[in-house]
Amino acid sequence: MKIDHIGIATRGIEDALGFWRDALGLEVKHTETVEEQGVRVAMLPVGEPRVELLEPTGPDSPVAKFLEKRGPGIHHVAVRVADIRAALARLRAEGARLIDEEPRVGAGGCLVAFVHPAASGGVLLELVQGTNEPAGQSTEGR
Ligand code: CO
Repeated sequence: MKIDHIGIATRGIEDALGFWRDALGLEVKHTETVEEQGVRVAMLPVGEPRVELLEPTGPDSPVAKFLEKRGPGIHHVAVRVADIRAALARLRAEGARLIDEEPRVGAGGCLVAFVHPAASGGVLLELVQGTNEPAGQSTEGR
């Protein structure tokens, strides 16, 4: 397993880039809107792992609700796994509370699934299977 990215909730990606890109010096490699999750994302590599800036697309977005409750900051940690279905099966067998019983397509066209923060002691965990391929390339059936 590897850390794939750290998801950071922001009220606006443009403002957040004032720090992550301009002050710190990271490069924006990829931006996209993931309608299904109600977020706009910007990916900034830090070595192999990436910082994923998240901005809600509307008031009903889970990230909008997170911002309301907790304010901007670390939203989730994403771990890359070789076989997401096997990882979910293992967690399920261990009694870990899952948000997604089945993987879905996330940013970059990867298969993703979220594990409830209650399972890990307070950290929302995202499992990711796939590479950093651009969106639009299906990873279904891999
Ligand atoms: Co993420």
